[in-house]
Amino acid sequence: MKLNIRTKSENYVVYIKRDLLNDLSNYIKEYKKEKILIITDENVANIYINEIKKTLKDFKIDFHIISPGEKSKSLNTSKDIYDKLLYGKYNRRSLIISLGGGVIGDLAGFVASTYMRGIDFIQIPTTLLSQVDSSVGGKVGINYNNIKNIIGSFYQPKKVLIDPETLKTLDLKNLKSGLSEVIKYGIIRDYDFFKMLKMEIDIIKSLNIDKMENIIKKSLEIKEEIVYLDTYENDIRKILNFGHTIGHGIESLNDFQRFTHGEAIALGMISEAYISRELGYISSDYYCEIKYLLNKIISDVKFTREEKQEIIKNLENDKKNTNKDIVFILPINRGEVRIFYKGIDRSLIIKSLGADR
Ligand SMILES: NC(=O)c1ccc[n+]([C@@H]2O[C@H](COP(=O)([O-])OP(=O)(O)OC[C@H]3O[C@@H](n4cnc5c(N)ncnc54)[C@H](O)[C@@H]3O)[C@@H](O)[C@H]2O)c1
Ligand SMILES: [Zn+2]
Repeated sequence: MKLNIRTKSENYVVYIKRDLLNDLSNYIKEYKKEKILIITDENVANIYINEIKKTLKDFKIDFHIISPGEKSKSLNTSKDIYDKLLYGKYNRRSLIISLGGGVIGDLAGFVASTYMRGIDFIQIPTTLLSQVDSSVGGKVGINYNNIKNIIGSFYQPKKVLIDPETLKTLDLKNLKSGLSEVIKYGIIRDYDFFKMLKMEIDIIKSLNIDKMENIIKKSLEIKEEIVYLDTYENDIRKILNFGHTIGHGIESLNDFQRFTHGEAIALGMISEAYISRELGYISSDYYCEIKYLLNKIISDVKFTREEKQEIIKNLENDKKNTNKDIVFILPINRGEVRIFYKGIDRSLIIKSLGADR
């Protein structure tokens, strides 16, 4: 299936198709004469590189393979890629392909957006998180000084190629991480979608690829609608950050090693829904519904007093570093959230991290 993505700068197509990777040459044939650099990580390369080499045997491809993990989304890794592009005589007509999860997509997109003021870039996301979220919408970037995504740009890919079969090699932890963003879409925009997820979460977790295809499409439709309205995140695009305010504070615990992005966001969504209930914006029933579904992908975590303090410190650092107020996105109704620019009491945030929430 095909999905048209409209943004304020350009439009492109997402193709979602089983076994797309075996047929990759057809999706990029306009680059047959050009140099192509495929950026990927060791895990993904181990599984898919031979297949890709075979299907692209008539193309001028080279690979840049980096270590897996968030630490690779760095200036150092970018520099290695710039060197490869420069010494390999890649030019304005060349193509960069990202083959991997959100780390690879964000990094490769960032390099593509800056090398020679921008060269063509195609995303081939291979984790659920990158298929339903990070590969679409044009946010690319790297971490610096331990601050996530602090250097980056808005740079849209020329296309996004999704092969849901790649999810078969993904571990459960990363599958759940992606499901967290999927559930987020239901909460922020579409209660029917949320209800469907609630009913079918066990089948979904068992990786039914037909179901997955539909879930990816629905998620991207919601993201597209929002990105089209507000590509540069001046207002409504902020709602995609539901769960991320507290989630980022949780994600930075233990130097980003303890939780995946999606796990931290799931915990953040529980806390933020709790805050919303405490402030009287949503009912206890709806709060329990949200918590029930999120607990299907992450069991409750008991944070120690020190950890709670650290999460708050991370939130406040976030604010200091970016010189912006802490914005909260809170559910106010089934399938609806609102942006709150005025801060939330520290004591309520601490309470929302408690085990009895
Ligand atoms: N740009 C955006 O809009 C946006 C949105 C959300 C998240 N992000 C970013 O995305 C990143 C997280 O992405 P992620 O969760 O995909 O992490 P990731 O890229 O680190 O991938 C997770 C793990 O899965 C492995 N992997 C990838 N595909 C695989 C496959 N098919 N089979 C087996 N293993 C596979 C990777 O090697 C890695 O170890 C974070 O840096 C986050 O900031 C960006
Ligand atoms: Zn996210």
